[in-house]
Amino acid sequence: MEKKQLHKLLEQMTVEEKIGQLVQLTPNFFEETDGEGEITGPLMEWGMSKQELYNIGSVLGTHTISQTHQIQAAYLKNNRLGIPLLFMADVIHGYETIFPIPIALASSWSPELIEEMASLSAVESAEAGVHVTFSPMADLVRDPRWGRVMESSGEDTYLNSLLTAAYVRGYQGNPNKLNENFNKIAACVKHFIGYGASEAGRDYNTVDFSDLALYQDHLPSFEAALNAGAKLVMTSFNTIKGIPASGSQWLLKEVLRNDLNFQGLLISDWAAIAEMITHGVAVDKKEAALKALSASVDMDMMTDCYQSSLKELLKEGKITETTVDQAVLHVLQLKNDLGLFEDPYRGMKGKQQKAVTFSDSIQSTARELAAQSMVLLKNEHLLPLNSKKTVALIGPKAASQDILGAWSWIGKQSQAVTLKDALKKEYPDLLTAETDSLTKITSDEWETIKRVAAKADIVILALGESSEESGEAASKATIRLPEAQEQLVKSIKAINPNIVTVLFNGRPLVLEEIAENSSSLLEAWFPGTQGGPAIVDILVGRVNPSAKLPMSFPRNTGQIPIYYNHMSTGRPVTQQNKQEKYISKYIDVANEPLYPFGYGLTYTSFIIEDIKVSSTQLTEDTKIIITVNVTNIGRMIGKEIIQLYLHDVSAEVVRPVKELKKFRTVLLEPNQMQEVKFEITVEDLVYIHPDLKKSADKGFFEIFIGTESRAPKITEIEYV
Ligand code: GLC
Repeated sequence: MEKKQLHKLLEQMTVEEKIGQLVQLTPNFFEETDGEGEITGPLMEWGMSKQELYNIGSVLGTHTISQTHQIQAAYLKNNRLGIPLLFMADVIHGYETIFPIPIALASSWSPELIEEMASLSAVESAEAGVHVTFSPMADLVRDPRWGRVMESSGEDTYLNSLLTAAYVRGYQGNPNKLNENFNKIAACVKHFIGYGASEAGRDYNTVDFSDLALYQDHLPSFEAALNAGAKLVMTSFNTIKGIPASGSQWLLKEVLRNDLNFQGLLISDWAAIAEMITHGVAVDKKEAALKALSASVDMDMMTDCYQSSLKELLKEGKITETTVDQAVLHVLQLKNDLGLFEDPYRGMKGKQQKAVTFSDSIQSTARELAAQSMVLLKNEHLLPLNSKKTVALIGPKAASQDILGAWSWIGKQSQAVTLKDALKKEYPDLLTAETDSLTKITSDEWETIKRVAAKADIVILALGESSEESGEAASKATIRLPEAQEQLVKSIKAINPNIVTVLFNGRPLVLEEIAENSSSLLEAWFPGTQGGPAIVDILVGRVNPSAKLPMSFPRNTGQIPIYYNHMSTGRPVTQQNKQEKYISKYIDVANEPLYPFGYGLTYTSFIIEDIKVSSTQLTEDTKIIITVNVTNIGRMIGKEIIQLYLHDVSAEVVRPVKELKKFRTVLLEPNQMQEVKFEITVEDLVYIHPDLKKSADKGFFEIFIGTESRAPKITEIEYV
């Protein structure tokens, strides 16, 4: 529809119809019964007329093609102007085929892989009538107690920005062709902003950081998403500078709408508008609605603040119809961008047999992506497995189908291929001792465990969390595995020290006990529908692990927040002063994490040599070329991620001791060498100054190059 036609449509709408477009509800409102559903906020008292229901703008959370079809058809029959509904859903890491959780996908450090995953998710969800996904989550995270780190791309702003943009490209394709490409969906980047910095890692908790931190650490990933064309933004639950995001005019109008020039649909998080009352910045729903609309929140997810108050606020002149019209136009524009006026079903195959969902090709891609997401944390000598060995598979996750992780939408655990099923294909004589509970081992189970552990050459020990232990509203003050699992690895070690531990978890864990007692340790995260086969591909060496941690693994919960790009402090710990007292350290635990950002092992080995630096001086219009030769000196083909970090020695504000600036992935045959080239320009030296403006200062910069964040310093350059 032409833009001017949208304005014509707007002119025909009554105030009630306009207000209705700014409301989003769950599907159960369309059931004749008073459906159960997760209704939060004041909605329970919301007596709604059928006509009001058939004026709403959007539905979130339909689960099937027929449900979506049915609701759209009923809606179009009853909506006076035939304005179609917008369907949104949490397609976070797959729709029916579930891919690894986002923190696992981030471990691949591959924007291409993320784009492919998002593209396949779009294919499956668009086919079921989804128009918008509430993804990517662009929140920067530094606290693994927060359950939603599983949805994140980790602790580094640069990597987070790269991967967030890749999600958007994968979901949307060309953002101007969503009205033709019906196998693409619109992306809603979230949660704007700072939700990942919830105090103490406790979900929905207070957030407070400086403007400098906002612009330096948290905003770039949202900028990257918007630059990639993200069609929607979702506000976060938390406060920013003492005001809940959904009611902050500074955050939403100045920073998002003006600075970032976002003119698309801004939707609240679930009940976030009404929750301004419980936050304590609104006395009632009417004041909450006034604050949210005045801050330019276009759509009210799952409360009746807008539905019940906007008409009165208009009458009282507290808001203008122009303000309402602006919000309605954002909604109509998105429906138009998606081609919904021409085809409200966007080519949905309706009740026809699904064409592509859960196809074999998607399954094999899911298996490949999962293998690229698993991080080898330790490997003394057992991996890759020797096919002639007798192998025992033991533990609570050995035969578990609880390997999809949180936010697995309509993915069915029953379709997940377990580690046991996959390993049995490789080792028909596999010995097994799977256990039921994550938190206890029965005496019968222990008898079987002892027997198979004694008989086997190698024990594969499958440990981890349940999917419910991470994700939303799943913060944990203790991030170790249960005592029973830590005890299990120690007890098995006394019988058979050849233990390969495979972890299924949604967050970095405190793993010292587990690592100490395992000869090899593979971080599988929640690997998704094809998780079992992907793990076996790694264990037997069909895939050489190449993933790298996107988030630090602490030695101890007390170290949190712990991240590689920290500040120096005035009293940093150095090799020379470790024994001194008055320096920034703990007296009971080392400062360093157990496994740092960027770390991950491989079955082969690489060396980096012949480092050449074209110049140690940089000017406004020159560049420095740094080349290194990377050689695979092992016996297996393998990938390595060469990482370049930078440290600004002296700036207007304190700068991180290291910042990831560039990385290159090389794939090398044994004995193959490849030259890797990095270009440094002034652009790489830019940072946020106290006036919140981006610029680079003259001065000295240290450069580090290696295969993880503990990369050695290779040179120092001067910007002159
Ligand atoms: C939830 C989450 C948000 C999600 C939304 C819709 O509370 O915070 O990430 O997209 O509600 O389910």
